[in-house]
Amino acid sequence: MASNSILLVAAIDFGTTYSGWAFSFKNEYKTDPTKTSTKHWFGGHFISLKAPTTALIKPDGKTLDSFGYEAETKYANLACSDEYKAWYYFRHFKMLLHVRKAGINEENFRIALEPEAASIFCRLLPLERMVEGRGLSSFKTGSKYMVLDAGGGTVDISVHEVMPGEKLKEIHKPSGGPWGGIQVDEAFKQFIISLVGDTVFCRFQTESKEDYLNLFRDFEIKKRNISPESNNNVTFYIPFTLKEIFQKESGEDISNAIKQTRYVDQVFMLDDKLRVSATVMKNLFSAAIQSTVSHVKELMKDSKVQEISSILMVGGFSESKMFQDAIKSNFRNVAVIIPREAGLVVLNGAVVFGHSPLSIAERVCKYTYGVSTTTQFDETIHDVSKRVEYDDGPRCKDMFSKHIEIGQTVAVEDTTEQKSYFPLREDQTNVKFVIYSSTEKSPMYVTDEGCVKLGSVNVDILDMSVPRKQRTVLVSMRCGGTEIEVTAKEKRTGQTARVKLNFLG
Ligand SMILES: Nc1ncnc2c1ncn2[C@@H]1O[C@H](COP(=O)(O)OP(=O)(O)OP(=O)(O)O)[C@@H](O)[C@H]1O
Ligand SMILES: [Mg+2]
Repeated sequence: MASNSILLVAAIDFGTTYSGWAFSFKNEYKTDPTKTSTKHWFGGHFISLKAPTTALIKPDGKTLDSFGYEAETKYANLACSDEYKAWYYFRHFKMLLHVRKAGINEENFRIALEPEAASIFCRLLPLERMVEGRGLSSFKTGSKYMVLDAGGGTVDISVHEVMPGEKLKEIHKPSGGPWGGIQVDEAFKQFIISLVGDTVFCRFQTESKEDYLNLFRDFEIKKRNISPESNNNVTFYIPFTLKEIFQKESGEDISNAIKQTRYVDQVFMLDDKLRVSATVMKNLFSAAIQSTVSHVKELMKDSKVQEISSILMVGGFSESKMFQDAIKSNFRNVAVIIPREAGLVVLNGAVVFGHSPLSIAERVCKYTYGVSTTTQFDETIHDVSKRVEYDDGPRCKDMFSKHIEIGQTVAVEDTTEQKSYFPLREDQTNVKFVIYSSTEKSPMYVTDEGCVKLGSVNVDILDMSVPRKQRTVLVSMRCGGTEIEVTAKEKRTGQTARVKLNFLG
């Protein structure tokens, strides 16, 4: 896709918890690259720029009925009758690559890596669109900073350096963990369970879906207002159904029972209102925050990461005052930069990326990449279960032939060193290479833990006139913006086969 011929770029951000789409025309982009038009979603009493990643599928198991708030509400309504059992309801899922299947022409389709989209976008933002920090636009070549993308499902961390010509270089392999906003929701769920018990909670969740949904929607709103300065109780409306189930299960009134829990001084129930102290509310953030802070501290031990001057906080969870405060107070020697509407930065960045795709110059590989091959069997090294017999003697199958190593810096669009292979049998008219990634530096077999099959490439052997060991096939890998292209080429004839695999595996 030649960037200058594009008239319109639309981007879809499928997040674990929230998704959205936005677009901009080329002329708009030229006037103000940060200006995009974003789909507005209606969530009952409010409008938001992203909707819950929730899909409701019709009883035929194939047709999408609704998405987002609409799916949530409809499912809750269906649940009032027994009808809902035939429907399929999905939430908190990452719809990674199935868009491709939605009929978008491959040529017009690109995947933007989230931290890179965020970085590209924030470098364009003026000072007045920052909540905190002076912004990235003033960063000079050589400046290094961390991008902390805290979403619903995960916190993803990358370290970037500003290169000449508006490009970026990745200087540490991306890392992170499942410490996003969902962990706070989970802590709230555990808190409710500690008040009412497992059995009551499970019954409430299955028998009163609508009330359950409303309780968590209410929490989603309240959670966003918690800050380190909060000191007022937070009030939740406790559905009648929950009180009723509690009464039936325990024969006791819920408000009395709460007095017997460890929350006796922190939680009060009056009629249908549950008042929760600010301390309890703030504690719900502890696990998610602590995990991220420890991970960043660990990363800071690396000499390359130590050189960063700032941390750029993006993703919806970065809008949390609790989270912002924890990052600022734990990393006082670096500047913390937070753009406004941090949750929309990846989406808007993806639009910018579509208009100007070649923004990443070098990246640090998150995985080891290679192909499956065989080698002469050596019983002192190889596992006997891997032994296979060939005309020229026993060979060891499933060997991981490494092309790119985890942590290796690769220049985007550059081809890495090629390796040569040859067919195993004289009558073989094609060679198939199965491509794998691994989380290990030097895996021995493609069946080792951490190895994942990504795809394959199959090259025909056109010249059968020479002995098989001269029918050399050269395999090379090239890192594109977000994908790896694997090329297999018969050396003598130039016969070539290629496959593109995305980075996100
Ligand atoms: N002001 C806020 N305070 C606290 N949490 C917030 C705030 N705003 C958003 N969140 C939380 O941020 C999360 C959503 O962030 P985002 O939209 O970036 O995630 P996502 O893209 O769905 O997830 P992921 O990137 O992990 O796939 C939710 O858990 C939401 O509750
Ligand atoms: Mg996200």
